[in-house]
Amino acid sequence: MRIGVIHGPNLNLLGTREVEVYGSESLAEIDRRLADRARQRGVELTTLQSNHEGALVDFIQAETGAVSGWLVNAAGYTHTSVALRDALAASGLPVVEVHLSNILAREPFRRESLLAPISLGVVAGFGARSYLLGLEALADHLNGAP
Ligand code: DQA
Repeated sequence: MRIGVIHGPNLNLLGTREVEVYGSESLAEIDRRLADRARQRGVELTTLQSNHEGALVDFIQAETGAVSGWLVNAAGYTHTSVALRDALAASGLPVVEVHLSNILAREPFRRESLLAPISLGVVAGFGARSYLLGLEALADHLNGAP
């Protein structure tokens, strides 16, 4: 089983960007932890970080036939991108949305997610562990967990 991992804009800056909000782990460290957990679960990952909405849409379209589900931190696009939501919905594959921070406890504009209504669920507020928890939930779902 293969899962597509999507990191949206500015997540390439993790480790130096607003560390009091997003923590001091770099994206490479998060990807390493995800890869370790995926290996333990017998899951393969295809991962993209991009600051460009169209590149994320192209990735979803290109990988739809090759993956079984999506683990998505769309970052700022979570709150704005109809295009990303439409691309994920068009894939017909299950989506788990993750965030490092608890977006519901932050500014009002972060409380709306355009992706949440087309997602199986949302994991937010646990730092890098949000990704690991999201991966577990998605892998369980794909393995037929109720
Ligand atoms: C984020 C939350 C978003 O509101 C923000 O734009 C990000 C990161 C998170 O992981 O907490 O870039 O997705």
